[in-house]
Amino acid sequence: MFKRQLISLLLASALSSSLRAQAPASAHGAWYEHAVIYEIYPRSFQDTNGDGVGDLNGITQRLDYLQSLGVDAIWIAPMYPSPQVDFGYDIANYEAVDPQYGTLADMDRLIAEAKKRHIRVLLDMVLNHTSDKHPWFVESAGSKTNPRADWFIWNDGKATNDTHAPNAHQGPHGWVVPPNDWSSLFQGSAWEWVPARGQFYYHFFYKQQPDLNWRNPAVEKAMFDAMRFWLDRGVAGFRLDAVTTLFEDPELHDDGPTGKLDASGFPESNHVRTSGLPEVHDVMRRLRVMVDGYHDERVLVGEIYVPATAELLGWYGPRSAPELQLPMDTLVGFHTEAPGQETGKNVALNIAHFRKTIVEMEAALDGHQPLLVFDNHDNTRSWDRFGDGAHNPLIARLIATMLFTTRSAALLYYGQELGMATHTPTQREDVRDPIGITGWPKEKGRDGERTPMQWTSGPQAGFSSNPQTWLPVAADRSSVNVASESADASSLLNWYRTLAAIRRGNPTMRDGALVMLDATNPAVLSYARTPVSPSGHALVVSLNMTAQPQVVHLDLKAAGIGGPGVKTLLGDAAALNGVTSLATFMLPPYATLIAEVQ
Ligand code: GLC
Ligand code: CA
Repeated sequence: MFKRQLISLLLASALSSSLRAQAPASAHGAWYEHAVIYEIYPRSFQDTNGDGVGDLNGITQRLDYLQSLGVDAIWIAPMYPSPQVDFGYDIANYEAVDPQYGTLADMDRLIAEAKKRHIRVLLDMVLNHTSDKHPWFVESAGSKTNPRADWFIWNDGKATNDTHAPNAHQGPHGWVVPPNDWSSLFQGSAWEWVPARGQFYYHFFYKQQPDLNWRNPAVEKAMFDAMRFWLDRGVAGFRLDAVTTLFEDPELHDDGPTGKLDASGFPESNHVRTSGLPEVHDVMRRLRVMVDGYHDERVLVGEIYVPATAELLGWYGPRSAPELQLPMDTLVGFHTEAPGQETGKNVALNIAHFRKTIVEMEAALDGHQPLLVFDNHDNTRSWDRFGDGAHNPLIARLIATMLFTTRSAALLYYGQELGMATHTPTQREDVRDPIGITGWPKEKGRDGERTPMQWTSGPQAGFSSNPQTWLPVAADRSSVNVASESADASSLLNWYRTLAAIRRGNPTMRDGALVMLDATNPAVLSYARTPVSPSGHALVVSLNMTAQPQVVHLDLKAAGIGGPGVKTLLGDAAALNGVTSLATFMLPPYATLIAEVQ
């Protein structure tokens, strides 16, 4: 693995008790506007019963750690009863806890213990599909006439004379193939044959994840009831999974081919008829009304991948009929080098991309609060996605700084704060994620970013007492772990803690507008956050995105920022402690500077 560099972290005296004070997360607006939300993949966070799989009691046990990190809310990936084909994203009962993760009583205790530490609990809500083992689907698949016959997307298929055509089946009226060219995002056809009904059903993801029919009002009612079940138990809201795919073209027109084959060799379709349909916004508005009925700022976070920042606007909804409070901005953090290239592959730091998308986040969202994210359980970790192999610890600090110093809520993924790396399986036999099994070796799946949390340098990194963990614990646990990094003032973990403390205590960092500085510099990204009151101080952030030292000249006057004095709040090179003027200063390779203008 990469050799971790020793970094001298500078904390100017200004960053004293006042900045570290645990002020409430949002004095002015709603709590979530400035929240640090921490994603937990429950299988991989902390095992307490020795089965090698994480559980809810494990999360409860680690709440003190999360509080010390400065976390305002946790989002727990699905912990409902599930056959675990897609590790919980195939739900068999929306109103219970999977026994391998614990019980409802454990969840109640987790919510209560989190509340004592001012941490809110968000659950993951999978609206697009259920598990094929959910009683709704089992009933629906049994006949064409049962009470839930229309809860999923069923179709007779198209007649064919070619009995050897792919996915050809003998139906009640002769041989048929799927009605159109729709492909599954998870490889292969999106249509699966069920002999008992003599029909195909549609699935955007795995065939074990049949899509619900959102044109049936009974489906909406059942899903809203499930959400109320949890809201009544005290959860603070939901991360809405794959919410762009709720509706599909009722006339089942072809998507059209992308011209590419997926990792299994199936022709990929464009998903224009199966994703982004406008009907979803009516559901979102009704959902928001339901959630707002709770009167204490429950929040809807959306998993949204759109091609342009402005398209996020539609997900906030009109002011008169709002939808989600925090649709994720995945554009800044999951960009690709070239259009059409997959996310999740290695990309270098692309300064032009960051500059453009951060400005758009500030300017194109009509004042709505963005939610920035660089890591999640579906993409290779930012540590090695942006890392060059030689400067990863510094690059991780650049990413952390962008995440915490732009004007947005921040989404962190467990282990990101430690610099956990992606550990992709090296042989097919070891793969657990089905897309990695069917797609091997082209697509190796998402196991690499889901390995157990590294708490200590001891056995199983303190994750489990059982040597048979569900995914292997990474070898770099000896240095990349909570215990070692907590004890090291210059660690990435303490960098994150300091950033969280600055955000919490500094009004400029919380609400100040973001203004790009030196906007044509091809090597250094610089921006200011302007004070929100006459007595406030501007903040300047400078990030050297190259492996060479860079001399930076910032014209603060031109940007309307006064004061000759400069105080370093945070920097990752000793030289930065002595910066006395931003008119000219030197940034070492991949260095970060956060300064206050006085
Ligand atoms: C979302 C989840 C992903 C899951 C998929 C299907 O994209 O983040 O992990 O496989 O939805 O539910
Ligand atoms: Ca759908």
